[in-house]
Amino acid sequence: MSSLRFTLNGREIDASGADPNTTLLLWLRERGWTGTKEGCAEGECGACAVVLVRRGSDGGARYVPVNSCLFLLASAAGQEILTVEGVAAGALHPVQRAMVELGGSQCGYCTPGFVMSLFAEYYRPGRAEEGFDLESIAGNLCRCTGYRPIREAGRGLPMIADGDAHADRLSRPAPASEPVDYALGARRYFRPTSLAEATALYAAHPDAKVVCGGTDLVVEMNQRLRRFETILSLEAVEELSGFDDGDDALVIGAAVPLSEIEARIGDDPPILAALFPLFSSRLIRNRATLGGNLATASPIGDSPPALLALGAEVVVAGPSGERTIPIAELFTGYRQTALAPGELIARVRIPKPYPSIGRFYKVSKRVHDDISTVAAGFALDLDASGTVRGARLAYGGVAATPVRATAAEQALVGKPFSREAIEDAKAKAATAFTPMTDQRGSAAYRAAMVTSLLDKLWADTGATA
Ligand SMILES: Cc1cc2nc3c(=O)[nH]c(=O)nc-3n(C[C@H](O)[C@H](O)[C@H](O)COP(=O)(O)OP(=O)(O)OC[C@H]3O[C@@H](n4cnc5c(N)ncnc54)[C@H](O)[C@@H]3O)c2cc1C
Ligand code: FES
Ligand code: FES
Repeated sequence: MSSLRFTLNGREIDASGADPNTTLLLWLRERGWTGTKEGCAEGECGACAVVLVRRGSDGGARYVPVNSCLFLLASAAGQEILTVEGVAAGALHPVQRAMVELGGSQCGYCTPGFVMSLFAEYYRPGRAEEGFDLESIAGNLCRCTGYRPIREAGRGLPMIADGDAHADRLSRPAPASEPVDYALGARRYFRPTSLAEATALYAAHPDAKVVCGGTDLVVEMNQRLRRFETILSLEAVEELSGFDDGDDALVIGAAVPLSEIEARIGDDPPILAALFPLFSSRLIRNRATLGGNLATASPIGDSPPALLALGAEVVVAGPSGERTIPIAELFTGYRQTALAPGELIARVRIPKPYPSIGRFYKVSKRVHDDISTVAAGFALDLDASGTVRGARLAYGGVAATPVRATAAEQALVGKPFSREAIEDAKAKAATAFTPMTDQRGSAAYRAAMVTSLLDKLWADTGATA
């Protein structure tokens, strides 16, 4: 198919003729839909937020806000999108009215993005019982109004009135994800819906650039002007979208958006429950995936230390079928993985029972919406007498790859979990890594974090272990 059609603000749109490398934001603005703003083009400000109609984890349709600056236009194929131009029906939408009446807008540049995030929050099932979720606007920045009036606008949102057309829309199913094969000249965009199709396409187009949520890759395309002849999107692959919380393991598809994992796991395992609220913003988490986070093999990615601590395995799929890689063997060098040519990350398997003690810590300049300077995932198994039977202490930001402090782990195993044992582990961990200095932190600061996070582990858990 060489046409690219989707629904924009309730109208069928034919966007054929657009480069598959184009983002939704650029296309919208070029076509005159200039309500959606560009602030940073790297997912940091939320001025570009739009809303998708997507299938929620309970099967019902939901409004999901995303950053259109990191959303490839071709990903919109067959989908339904609302921009700020589509929210008002005659009179202002209640979200817009709340922003006006409570003084939530000054220069107005950030306002369309806030309106779209608040719009999705307005229709969130559960808002009536739980109240306004401040996290819903965590990915939107404002540089002149001040956040208090915007927060008050959120808190002041009325309940949904009868006959609300946007609420009625959610009573029908969200659009299905159909396979896409879109071309403009030599440039192609594929969006297969099965793993067999995805691996076959990758085998046929070995130079294709794989994309899932795009929250890493499209930043690179925007900032470094990288362009690809062939793009292979995994976001609609059915087998990569599974979530199975079984007796032996929690298995999470590589393409499940982080916000969905966050909603589905609740408080368990605590390492992941602590990780997701610290991982960027809801806007990013609505698109970012575990597959993308692991495939980048960034030494400061947040999921690797957590998954290393949980003893996870990564199932990869390629032309000759599937194989399982223990996560400790996935990262082979700076931004390099053990994936062979043609292989894709299919899912992550986290064995059960979960460790008796599990903690995730992230050290960054801001608590929320920031990249790690150092991150740590700690997991201990204690027996009934309080003796450590197993330990996994994993770090990010201290070496070329996410890594475990194995000597420090050995210093804990077989001993009662005590201040003394933690001191032994700290002594081993202190010499385990040679961190680098960069703009986020000096080598000395990072080295200090390696041991002080073990103090934090003891402070958080020692008294109750
Ligand atoms: C504003 C902002 C804040 C961020 N904050 C954080 C943060 O707090 N913590 C953090 O860890 N990261 C953060 N990130 C980085 C990014 O969001 C994550 O790495 C995310 O998990 C990437 O997932 P994705 O699906 O969007 O990857 P994509 O951008 O789609 O892909 C990333 C890379 O992985 C490859 N890939 C994707 N899926 C697969 C697969 N299944 N198999 C094989 N290869 C694959 C792609 O080819 C590409 O090279 C942030 C990014 C932005 C823009
Ligand atoms: S333009 Fe800033 S997040 Fe998209
Ligand atoms: S109103 Fe000016 S940036 Fe928010």
